[in-house]
Amino acid sequence: MEMPVFSLRLQWWFFLVNLVICIRSLKLESLSSTPTFGNETDKLALLVFKNHLADVPNGVLSSWNDSLHFCQWQGVTCSRRHQRVTVLRLEGQSLAGSLPPIGNLTFLRELVLSNNNLQGSIPTDIGLLRRLQHLNLSTNSLQGEIPVELTNCSNLITVDLTRNNLTGQIPFPFGHMSKLLILRLGRNSVNNLSGMIPSSLYNLSSAIELVFTANRLSGNFMSSMRFSLPQLLRFAIAQNQFIGIIPDILSNISGLELLDVGENYLTGQVPDIGNLINLTTFGVAQNDFTGVIPTSIGKLQNLRQLELSWNRLSGLLPSSLGNLSQLSLYLQQNLLTGSFPAEVGELKNLNELLVSDNKLSGEIPMELGNCLVLEYLDMARNSFLGNIPLSFGFLRGIRFLDLSRNNLSGTIPKELEHLSALLSLNLSYNYLEGEVPSGGVFKNVSGISITGNKKLCGGIRQLQLPACSDIDGFTSQSNW
Ligand SMILES: *[C@@H]1O[C@H](CO)[C@@H](O)[C@H](O)[C@H]1NC(C)=O
Ligand SMILES: *[C@@H]1O[C@H](CO)[C@@H](O)[C@H](O)[C@H]1NC(C)=O
Ligand SMILES: *[C@@H]1O[C@H](CO)[C@@H](O)[C@H](O)[C@H]1NC(C)=O
Ligand SMILES: *[C@@H]1O[C@H](CO)[C@@H](O)[C@H](O)[C@H]1NC(C)=O
Ligand SMILES: *[C@@H]1O[C@H](CO)[C@@H](O)[C@H](O)[C@H]1NC(C)=O
Ligand SMILES: *[C@@H]1O[C@H](CO)[C@@H](O)[C@H](O)[C@H]1NC(C)=O
Ligand SMILES: *[C@@H]1O[C@H](CO)[C@@H](O)[C@H](O)[C@H]1NC(C)=O
Ligand SMILES: *[C@@H]1O[C@H](CO)[C@@H](O)[C@H](O)[C@H]1NC(C)=O
Ligand SMILES: *[C@@H]1O[C@H](CO)[C@@H](O)[C@H](O)[C@H]1NC(C)=O
Ligand SMILES: *[C@@H]1O[C@H](CO)[C@@H](O)[C@H](O)[C@H]1NC(C)=O
Ligand SMILES: *[C@@H]1O[C@H](CO)[C@@H](O)[C@H](O)[C@H]1NC(C)=O
Ligand SMILES: *[C@@H]1O[C@H](CO)[C@@H](O)[C@H](O)[C@H]1NC(C)=O
Repeated sequence: MEMPVFSLRLQWWFFLVNLVICIRSLKLESLSSTPTFGNETDKLALLVFKNHLADVPNGVLSSWNDSLHFCQWQGVTCSRRHQRVTVLRLEGQSLAGSLPPIGNLTFLRELVLSNNNLQGSIPTDIGLLRRLQHLNLSTNSLQGEIPVELTNCSNLITVDLTRNNLTGQIPFPFGHMSKLLILRLGRNSVNNLSGMIPSSLYNLSSAIELVFTANRLSGNFMSSMRFSLPQLLRFAIAQNQFIGIIPDILSNISGLELLDVGENYLTGQVPDIGNLINLTTFGVAQNDFTGVIPTSIGKLQNLRQLELSWNRLSGLLPSSLGNLSQLSLYLQQNLLTGSFPAEVGELKNLNELLVSDNKLSGEIPMELGNCLVLEYLDMARNSFLGNIPLSFGFLRGIRFLDLSRNNLSGTIPKELEHLSALLSLNLSYNYLEGEVPSGGVFKNVSGISITGNKKLCGGIRQLQLPACSDIDGFTSQSNW
């Protein structure tokens, strides 16, 4: 009884093996004898694509007609040998409508449809595009969730879905696409993306850019960011609902160029980032950071944007910031104390300096007059004393100057008249006295605010100040 069963099995086995071999050779046959199979499918898929979309009249898709081979259609690139569509690139073409199933374009390596008016959801059969390396659907109105099937495209290197109307969570397996280097999911409006950044992303050890700005994401992705993303150059999670701290490990991501985590609920201290020598933007504004500004920031020669505003940072403003020749500095609404370091006044390329709503005191350093390209200077609501530096007359580029609600005294320098770019000057609520100039910015009552200074006189008529000759001191002088 045993033997027949065994031989039966053996026969079955041989049958199966033969069947497999047979099918394989059939497949080979069909590939070699009908080479048009693939490119016909691609043409059909492109036509389905075209029929699904509303093109503008005489738009790019009108060239998709039979007088040209589909490989020559605008935006289409084919592989030379097999005439399979490898690139479909139609940026900024005012295409509207929804995306049809696209999974038949199995040789597609690059799909770029950014800056159009596409609506509807991302087709789930996109997961069939196993060769896809670059997907860019940014700036459209795509809705619905990011299909989990997309994570089956294991060759993806860049994914850009910025500025759509996508909702729901980021599919967990995103981090399983191990070749992913750039992931941009920022600025999805209306209901936008929510939930946590999946922990699988910690596995993207080669990733160089992760951008999730302006959604409704939460969790403490950063706190748990252990040793895993050493290659990151750009990391942006601003305008979300993240909690937690910035771990010290951040300073081991030594190539980091941009860190923007502003407008979240992050706490703890600003980490020592003094060794991130390539950092150009460090944004931690509008969180709940405490502690002091690390002096080591002064080593970051490439830093252009330092955004620390709207936190509870205390202590002194490090003079080492005076080292950073390309800086724009945003420090408003903190608890900073002490005087303003004269060194910062040496920043030849300082373009914007905002330190309002702190507890800074002492005199305004005259060195600020060396910041010749300064356009925006806001020192309001501190406790600065003494005179407005005469050197402010050198700030040829200044457009906005606010020194209100300090303890400044003395006269308004006549030199401010010569600042031809100045549009808005606020000197209100100080202890300024003497004559208000009447040239330049002072000619237009809507450009200046000087209320709350008790001893000013003169100026243009609309200010309704007493004439200087009526004021004590001046009167006696003129009577002399
Ligand atoms: C498909 O490819 C074959 C061989 O490269 C070519 O002769 C044929 O014209 C192509 N068909 C289409 C529709 O492009
Ligand atoms: C995909 O290809 C199959 C087989 O060629 C075809 O039946 C189907 O209609 C195609 N689908 C689309 C959306 O192009
Ligand atoms: C087909 O496309 C070509 C190339 O863009 C264009 O010159 C021609 O006018 C188009 N033909 C039709 C019927 O739209
Ligand atoms: C996607 O396309 C937009 C505009 O066409 C471009 O600015 C952006 O850099 C692209 N994204 C990637 C990752 O290349
Ligand atoms: C991903 O691909 C695997 C096979 O490679 C398949 O079993 C699975 O259903 C696919 N998943 C999705 C979500 O498409
Ligand atoms: C995200 O959705 C929330 C709630 O609907 C909304 O308040 C927020 O403005 C949206 N974000 C963006 C960038 O539109
Ligand atoms: C996408 O969001 C914008 C607002 O950001 C809205 O004007 C537009 O109607 C939305 N599109 C769709 C298809 O929901
Ligand atoms: C990360 O990768 C490791 C090794 O490939 C794997 O064991 C682990 O499950 C992955 N973790 C996540 C969250 O995907
Ligand atoms: C961070 O970098 C320092 C110096 O390069 C190294 O000694 C330390 O082990 C690193 N820490 C981690 C957690 O990788
Ligand atoms: C900083 O950038 C330069 C130029 O791109 C690069 O050569 C260098 O390796 C970077 N430094 C670090 C620490 O990544
Ligand atoms: C200023 O920059 C130089 C050069 O990077 C650095 O050696 C020095 O320590 C910095 N000074 C301060 C006060 O940070
Ligand atoms: C600012 O002036 C007010 C009123 O004269 C005074 O009470 C306050 O102590 C002054 N602040 C400083 C820091 O001098």
